[in-house]
Amino acid sequence: MRDTYCGTLRKDDVARTVTLAGWVFRRRDHGGLIFADLRDVTGIVQIVFSPEIAKEAHDRAGDIRGEYVLKVTGSVRKRPVETENLNIPTGEIEVYVSDFEVLNTCKVLPFQLDDEDMNEAVRLKYRYLDMRRPEMQRIFIERSKAYKITRDYLTSQGFYEIETPLLTRSTPEGARDFIVPSRLNPSMFYALPQSPQLFKQLLMMSGFEKYFQIARCFRDEDLRADRQPEFTQIDIEMSFVTREDVIEVNEGLIITLYEALKGKKPPEVPFPRMTFADAMDKYGSDKPDLRFGLTITDLTPVFLNTELGVFKKTIESGGSVKALVLKGRTLSRKDLDVAVDTAKELGSGGLIWIRKDADGLQSPIVKFLNDEEKSQMISRLGVEPGDVVFIMADKPQKVSDLMGRFRLYLGEKYGLIDKSLDKFLWVIDFPLLEYNEEEKRYVARHHPFTSPKERLLGFDGDYEAILANAYDLVFNGVELGGGSIRNHRTEDQAEMFRLLNIKEDEAADKFGFLLEALEMGAPPHGGIAFGFDRIIMMFLGLSSIRDVIAFPKTQKGSCLLTGAPSRVAHRQLTELKIRTIVD
Ligand code: AMO
Repeated sequence: MRDTYCGTLRKDDVARTVTLAGWVFRRRDHGGLIFADLRDVTGIVQIVFSPEIAKEAHDRAGDIRGEYVLKVTGSVRKRPVETENLNIPTGEIEVYVSDFEVLNTCKVLPFQLDDEDMNEAVRLKYRYLDMRRPEMQRIFIERSKAYKITRDYLTSQGFYEIETPLLTRSTPEGARDFIVPSRLNPSMFYALPQSPQLFKQLLMMSGFEKYFQIARCFRDEDLRADRQPEFTQIDIEMSFVTREDVIEVNEGLIITLYEALKGKKPPEVPFPRMTFADAMDKYGSDKPDLRFGLTITDLTPVFLNTELGVFKKTIESGGSVKALVLKGRTLSRKDLDVAVDTAKELGSGGLIWIRKDADGLQSPIVKFLNDEEKSQMISRLGVEPGDVVFIMADKPQKVSDLMGRFRLYLGEKYGLIDKSLDKFLWVIDFPLLEYNEEEKRYVARHHPFTSPKERLLGFDGDYEAILANAYDLVFNGVELGGGSIRNHRTEDQAEMFRLLNIKEDEAADKFGFLLEALEMGAPPHGGIAFGFDRIIMMFLGLSSIRDVIAFPKTQKGSCLLTGAPSRVAHRQLTELKIRTIVD
C-alpha cells in the first residue's frame, strides 16, 4: 500500500512524491491549513492538507479524527525554519498531501495516547492502544532485537536451540505449579514447566553439549514488580564445563546484549565477583546493589558483655548486632521516627538510632552503654559529627536480611544510589541447602540438581556450611540469572536427595527418568538461565516487568484484556471429570 515509511523521511527526500500509510496521531486545524502527525511503526511525520495544493483532499480532511487509518500520497517539502521541530527525526520536513484514502475510522478512544498519567488498569485493558504509543513500540522493537542478538551470539558459540515440552511434569524451582488436567487420563494433570531444567539436563545426556532455548516458564508465586506468572528465560546448558566456562560464555552474551540495548560498554569487565557470605555480611542481600556503599558492620563483638537488655539477650541466644552509618545527614526527630516505623514495617522488632552531634552521642539507649562500648563502636564505624548510626539486633540471618532491606530504603530515601551507574556482579559460593521453617527441613537453595563444590558422599557435618557450585548474575540489585554445575553421577544425586530427606521411592517417582539417565553415561554438565524480561526491563531502565511483556498479567494474575482466568463451560469440566468446590 505504501512506498515509504513515515519515520524515515529526511531533508534528502524533499521534492519526492511519497505514499505513506499509518494512524493520525495528532491533528491541528489552522483555518486554512490542516496539519496532522501521521504515525507508523517507524515514527511520525507531519502531513499538511492545503486548499491551494489539493482542494478536494483538504475538504475531506476536516472529517479526520485521531487514530483514523490513512493512506496518503503527497510531496515532501522542507519546513519553513521557524516551524522545524528538531525533537523528532523527521522535524525538518513535512508532506503536502495531494490525495488520501481513509482505510478505517476510529471511535473516540478510552484515553489519549499521549496521556502520561494513564491508569495502568485501563492501559492493560486496551493494551493494543497502549502499545501504539511510540515509547511502547520502542520497547518491543528493542525486545525483538534482543531475541535475535541472543540467537546470533549463542549459535555463533556453537549452541543448538531445542524446544522442550510445556505440558510436562512438575520441575522443582520452588514455586507452585500451574497444572493442566488431562482429558485422556482422568484425574491426571500435567504441570506447566517452572523452567526447562530437567529437559535441558536430559539434552546433555542426549549428547548435544551446548543447548539453549528462549523458553517460556510458569510459576504460581506472589507477583512483584520484577515477577510475572509466565515469563521468558534464556535457558542454557553445556557439557564438559566448569563454572568458569559457563560464566565466560554467558558474560559474553550479557555484554553483547548490554552493548546493543544501552549503546555503550559495561563499566567493568570481567564482571566483579563476590561470595554469598560477603554479600550477606556487607549488603544483607544475595543480590547487592553496588551503586552505593552504605555497608553493614557487625557490632556483635563490641557488645559481648553489654548491660543493654536487647543486645545482651540477642547475643546470648546466638544473635547478632548490626549497624549502618548514614554519613553527614542531620536527621530530625521526625525523620528518625519514620526510619523506626519503616524498620518495623520491614519486619524488624525494633531499630535503634544514635546521632553524633558536636556534643556527643544522642540516643535513647546511650545512657545504657559504657565508655568502652561507645568508643569501640565509634572507631569501628568511623562515626563523625553529623552522622546517624542505625542498629538492629536479631538472629544472624534475619538481622542481615532486615538490614539489607533497610539499607535499600535509606539508599532510596536519601538519594544515595547513583542511578547513572550500572553495576554487574557475579555472586558465587551459595550455600547448597537452606532450612525451611515451614516445612521444618532443609531444602535446596537453588534446585536439587545443583552440585556441591566438593563431593559429599556420606556427609554428616554442618548442613549450612556446604557450598554449592552455583552462581547468580546480579545487575543494580536485581537478579538477572542463576545457574549451577549439576550432579552428573547417580551417587552424588542420591546423596543430595538423602540430605534433602527425599526418600528413594519419592525420588524415583518424581525424577526417576533423570536418575536413570544419569546412570547411562551422563557427561559432566552445568548451565544457567537468565530472565529475558528482566534483562530487557533493566537494560532499558524500566521499573516494571509489565512494561516489557506484550500482554502481561496483573498483581492478581489476571489478564485485563482477555479476562483470563475465566470460568469454563460445565461441559468442559464434565469431560475432564472435574467438579469444583466453590461454585
Ligand atoms: P531461577 O529460578 O533462578 O533458575 O530462574 C532464572 C531467572 O529467571 C528469572 N525469573 C523470573 N522472571 C520473571 N518472573 C518470574 N516469576 C521469574 N522467576 C525467575 C530471574 C532468574 O534469575 N532452572 C534454573 C536455572 C539453572 O539452574 O540453569 C532456574 O530456573 O531473572
